[in-house]
Amino acid sequence: MSVDKPLVLIVDDNSTNIDVLVNTLKHDYRLGVAKSGTKALEYASKYIPDLILLDIMMPEMNGYEVCANLKSSTHTQGIAIIFLTAMSDASNKTKGFELGAVDYITKPFHVAEVKARVQTHLSLKKMKEEVNAQNLILEERIQEKTAQIQEMLKATIQAMALIGETRDPYTAGHQQRVAKFACDVAHIMGLSENQITTINFAGILHDIGKIRIPVSILNRPGKLLYAEFDLIKVHSETSYELLKNIPSPWPFAKIALQHHERLDGSGYPHKLKGDEILIESRILAVADVIEAMSSHRPYRPALGIETALEEIQKNRGKFFDPDVVDAFINYFSK
Ligand SMILES: [Fe+2]
Ligand SMILES: [Fe+2]
Repeated sequence: MSVDKPLVLIVDDNSTNIDVLVNTLKHDYRLGVAKSGTKALEYASKYIPDLILLDIMMPEMNGYEVCANLKSSTHTQGIAIIFLTAMSDASNKTKGFELGAVDYITKPFHVAEVKARVQTHLSLKKMKEEVNAQNLILEERIQEKTAQIQEMLKATIQAMALIGETRDPYTAGHQQRVAKFACDVAHIMGLSENQITTINFAGILHDIGKIRIPVSILNRPGKLLYAEFDLIKVHSETSYELLKNIPSPWPFAKIALQHHERLDGSGYPHKLKGDEILIESRILAVADVIEAMSSHRPYRPALGIETALEEIQKNRGKFFDPDVVDAFINYFSK
């Protein structure tokens, strides 16, 4: 007998019924037979038939119990079940459907009807399985394409960051390190993977707006003039302008826009306060200050990580989110 033929399990405690059903179906299907509910469950979990013709009235375990048991297991819940019984009132039929059966045949049954219904439900089951398999393939393709698009976006972002840093060698690596610190701390603070991805992109590009500031100002040793500082302050808005039109599910442009905002409203460009500033930006702001202070600049030598941590501790709750400051102190003290 071909293994390609569907496997049908006949469950009935009456030998005469079994003989009729076997003779009806043996030419078209592989058949299994069980004379009790317990035997039916054993057979079904071992061989996973495509369809079960299930008698309801049986001693010890009735057909409803067998059906409920099969539908409760992920292993056997896909098996199509047709009830076969002499009970014909509507409530019996409804109960069968509620338990997950696909059909109901009333005894005494006509051979042609049994054949037709078994064939119909096996075809439906096959179609459903094919649709499910197709859906799985489509989902995998969508995931692959999404991953490719994300990789392209990441590579583009890295390239943009490099362009910015080429003009401004003193801050080369600054954005990468800020992104790393901010992501590590966001992870410690329990932010979602999605938020951490966004912080990473925002970190890598937060100062991209400096591309519009003359190199002579960016790289000039000594203290900046007020007018020069005003020019530099525009960079977070410029970063936003450059990033806002990149189609992306992550709001990294807005996070970059807010990286110089301060908790007490003394920051720029919009003097936002407290929760008006995104949590991602509050984290980025602290990472930015720590990295900038602990690195060399044209106008001063590196101040060191200890001095940077003292600075954020001093302004905990004033400029910087207290929880964020605590998480950074914790992060750098390890
Ligand atoms: Fe900045
Ligand atoms: Fe920065």
